[in-house]
Amino acid sequence: MEIRVLFVGDVFGRPGREIISRVLPALIKEREIDFVIINGENSAGGKGITPKTCEDFFSAGADVITGGDHIWDRKEILEIINDSRILRPANLPEGSPGKGIGVYSKEEKKIQVVSLMGRTFIERPLDCPFQTAGRLHFDIPTIVDFHAEATSEKVAMKWFLAGKASAVLGTHTHIPTDDLEICDGTAYITDCGMTGAYDSVIGVEKNVILKRFLTGFPARHETAKKDVRFYGIFLEIKGIKTVNAEKIKIV
Ligand SMILES: [Fe+2]
Ligand SMILES: [Fe+2]
Repeated sequence: MEIRVLFVGDVFGRPGREIISRVLPALIKEREIDFVIINGENSAGGKGITPKTCEDFFSAGADVITGGDHIWDRKEILEIINDSRILRPANLPEGSPGKGIGVYSKEEKKIQVVSLMGRTFIERPLDCPFQTAGRLHFDIPTIVDFHAEATSEKVAMKWFLAGKASAVLGTHTHIPTDDLEICDGTAYITDCGMTGAYDSVIGVEKNVILKRFLTGFPARHETAKKDVRFYGIFLEIKGIKTVNAEKIKIV
């Protein structure tokens, strides 16, 4: 049986949500996609997730929303964190609300999705992502969103899960990389890139961030609006192995 999956990295603010609503329904039809996974950690004004931003994604056709370091930035997330379609990083310490691993099925098609976060250069209390990944079972197609800063940690996770996970897809840096490959049936990319406004500094109005770098004076973040791009990773999976992986860019 073949399963067709679309994964979308960090969707940033309203411009990101709008392009998702505009392009996703047609893409699902055109590519006959079975499951759509969206990293939503920046969907609410660039920081956090709310019931409204999730609803935008679900009504556009998303099946699963994954998290990252911004998962708790908006307290409204607590209203929906027990919805099985919403995943926070699986390696948050025990006692953290919600879940980081989910199994989703449509007719006979079944996938496992894992939200996982790296520890290098990320100041958060986290268990070891490698130990957490080592406890997973890979008897059904498994997509891992590895939300991490360091390219080394991401590449290490590729080798750790090669031949086991169907895909290890990097998120968090918001900059798309050009290294999409299939390694022993495991699709890998260091970063899928942000879906949002690229006339910006990783989604934020560029002059706000420039001012902060130039003067050290903090300013309120504003979501950028121009040069909005959609980046997705399309996967075709047979058994638990990915047989085709493509980057989809829509502007
Ligand atoms: Fe992000
Ligand atoms: Fe992040």
